[in-house]
Amino acid sequence: MSTHQTQVVIIGGGPSGLLLSQLLYRKGISSIVLEKHTREHVLGRIRAGVLEHGFVNLMREAGCGERMDREGEIHEGFHIAHQGQLDRIDLAKHTGGETVMVYGQTEVTRDLYDARDAMGGMIIHEAQNVQPHALTETRPHVTWEQNGETKRVECDFIVGADGFHGVSRKSIPAEVLKEYEKVYPFGWLGVLSETPPVAEELIYARHERGFALCSLRSRVLSRYYIQVPLTDRVEDWSDAAFWQELKRRLPQDVAAGLQTGPSIEKSIAPLRSFVAEPMRYGNLFLAGDAAHIVPPTGAKGLNLAASDIHYLYHGFLDHYLNGDSGGLHGYSEKALARVWKAERFSWWMTNLLHRAPEGSETDLRLQRAELDYLFSSEAAQVSLAENYVGLPY
Ligand code: FAD
Ligand code: PHB
Repeated sequence: MSTHQTQVVIIGGGPSGLLLSQLLYRKGISSIVLEKHTREHVLGRIRAGVLEHGFVNLMREAGCGERMDREGEIHEGFHIAHQGQLDRIDLAKHTGGETVMVYGQTEVTRDLYDARDAMGGMIIHEAQNVQPHALTETRPHVTWEQNGETKRVECDFIVGADGFHGVSRKSIPAEVLKEYEKVYPFGWLGVLSETPPVAEELIYARHERGFALCSLRSRVLSRYYIQVPLTDRVEDWSDAAFWQELKRRLPQDVAAGLQTGPSIEKSIAPLRSFVAEPMRYGNLFLAGDAAHIVPPTGAKGLNLAASDIHYLYHGFLDHYLNGDSGGLHGYSEKALARVWKAERFSWWMTNLLHRAPEGSETDLRLQRAELDYLFSSEAAQVSLAENYVGLPY
């Protein structure tokens, strides 16, 4: 069996794992990333599109911000469509000038891979049956299989950045881990199309027929979503049916300007709120989707992963450079405090804009009142805006 040595083993080569590996490298801390899939597979997943300023700053700190700053779009606000009208949330005005960046997760991941490659970073793809071991000992290790051979790496710490279905969270004993979960009775059908976006800014739409979202990746690439029942399958939705349903849920003048085209990606995502506590067990630390999931309505999933990485990175810096382990000890508590606030916000925004299949007339009227209140109260808009641009780290 071949054995490697490193300081930090990172399980999962998604944005969380790659970002941490890159940040640590720049401070002289070694890591190995173990990724189950091929790079093409990881880059083929179309996911998040909106980055908080905290995430943007972390990409710059990692030396990976150049293309993002050139090609990403700064958004100072977004729209909410309801009852046939379009109201705007002015993010910059309500937050003292804060904004968000529209730049796709695929591009973020590609930039991080390029940076790791340029620095000779060790990312092992198609690592099968990855298993963390000896988590409560001072020198834990991780094993995996590749080309029929078992491999092993010894380290000081293991970071579980392997997403919701990964192995890391599952390796924490059940009596230690507490999981909180809420599964929503609907999903999002998403379409990516090479068409100019219908509007300059994002439009979140609340409609009797269900939620819709008009988002974008660039001036020539649009991303649209509609709420669908959990029982729907992608094959049930032709492109024509998707565009027709999207138009029905948008205000008439917006729908009239929608440019349609063939979908280049189409998928259904379930909606879930999930938190696992604690985010540390022995020398294993969980980060990103491995520890928590939010429904995508507030665009918080990837951004929460970034704040975990920020806390963890600073914990490792204090440990390795200053001999102070306080940051690592406090990691779980600190990260969870921010996680729960983003969970609350995503849950609130999901309830505000979706049509619950079992919802009553009363629920609908309450939802309408919530929207009326939002657009009649400066305080309510400030609250939405400060959460949307991202609470402080
Ligand atoms: P992931 O991106 O899941 O990366 C984990 C990596 O670990 C993967 O590459 C996986 O292959 C690897 N892995 C898994 N198991 C193992 C194993 N056993 N061994 C080794 N490697 C393993 N967020 C938003 O903000 N906006 C959105 O619109 C949005 N849409 C989404 C749509 C979908 C379908 C999904 C699933 C998520 C979406 N999210 C969205 C959430 C956002 O994409 C995630 O929060 C983000 O990807 C989290 O990054 P991560 O690195 O923690 O996890
Ligand atoms: C996206 O562009 O994919 C996107 C944007 C905003 C969200 C969710 C998804 O709230």
